Amino acid sequence: MRALNVLVTGGAGFIGRWVVARLLQDGNRVWVLDDLSNGRIENLGKLRAHKNFIKFVKGDIKDNRFLNHLFINEFDVCYHLGASINVQDSIDRPKETFDNDVIGTFNVLEQCKKHKVKIVFMSTCMVYDRAQSDDGINETDPVKPASPYAGAKLAAENMVLSYYYAYGLPAVVIRPFNTYGPYQKTGGEGGVVAIFLKNKLAGKTLQIYGDGNQTRDLLYVEDCARFVVESGYSEHVDGEIVNAGLGEDVSINELAELIVEDEERIEHIPHIHPQSEIPKLLCDYSKAKELLDWEPEYTLDEGISKTEEWIKTAKI
Ligand SMILES: NC(=O)c1ccc[n+]([C@@H]2O[C@H](COP(=O)([O-])OP(=O)(O)OC[C@H]3O[C@@H](n4cnc5c(N)ncnc54)[C@H](O)[C@@H]3O)[C@@H](O)[C@H]2O)c1
Repeated sequence: MRALNVLVTGGAGFIGRWVVARLLQDGNRVWVLDDLSNGRIENLGKLRAHKNFIKFVKGDIKDNRFLNHLFINEFDVCYHLGASINVQDSIDRPKETFDNDVIGTFNVLEQCKKHKVKIVFMSTCMVYDRAQSDDGINETDPVKPASPYAGAKLAAENMVLSYYYAYGLPAVVIRPFNTYGPYQKTGGEGGVVAIFLKNKLAGKTLQIYGDGNQTRDLLYVEDCARFVVESGYSEHVDGEIVNAGLGEDVSINELAELIVEDEERIEHIPHIHPQSEIPKLLCDYSKAKELLDWEPEYTLDEGISKTEEWIKTAKI
């Protein structure tokens, strides 16, 4: 495969830095755009010294003048990960999420159309209604905008696919399930695995929102990044929506017990947004397997160990 010129928006974020790492490993030339509103330049670390890491640019996808300038570079693929990602923030401040996730995506999409750049749009499993069975959720199952975050992602997904149909723009919508691993934030705004591990290591109690029976399909971040990157390489997924997940779900109660191994250290507290909770999230990734030959490689146990090791050594 020939080396590509790629732009990664949100590339200084948690998943973004792994996508950048994988793209470099595959021999591509990589530009990174991030406004550092939630990402950190430190996440890119040694990747910036790689000979094919072309440039980090601090900028905002809401700024069209800035994007006009950036897209002069002849990109082959734009991996669009830059977004507001927090469900509770989207409930508290929907305009911020709308501006970043819908208007920001529209701006990026317009540039992709103008310069004929394939777009990989990073959506999320949070757009789905609950899994109805243990077969898992496939791409034709019902969606439900249970939060402004999900609503914004669905709006952006539709715009992306409309450019595929109306203009023939190569475009794919991908919906990874809840992703965890090294570089995810461990504070209140981080993911459940990172928060639980951090609290375990600090000798604190693990707090569960609500009854803890809600389930998640947890995808290790290197598996997620490989899926994201492959979606950009393959023409088979153009015009498609594609899921990726582990294909197994775990309740938050089970996850807490797995991590802390001591029921005394688990506490249930009132849910902060019960109205936007999705009771069961379980991924059917058979379409990704069929179109991309993608499957997860890390088990939940392996992913948790790798994440725990990282939290122990990282200065976060
Ligand atoms: N973490 C998950 O479980 C998960 C699952 C599925 C999909 N996603 C999606 O993956 C993408 C990356 O998520 P993440 O978990 O790495 O979160 P993250 O917050 O670490 O990454 C998002 C990045 O986008 C940047 N950003 C935000 N607004 C921007 C703007 N206006 N201009 C430029 N950059 C901007 C942030 O600074 C951050 O670095 C998001 O699109 C998210 O919706 C995340």
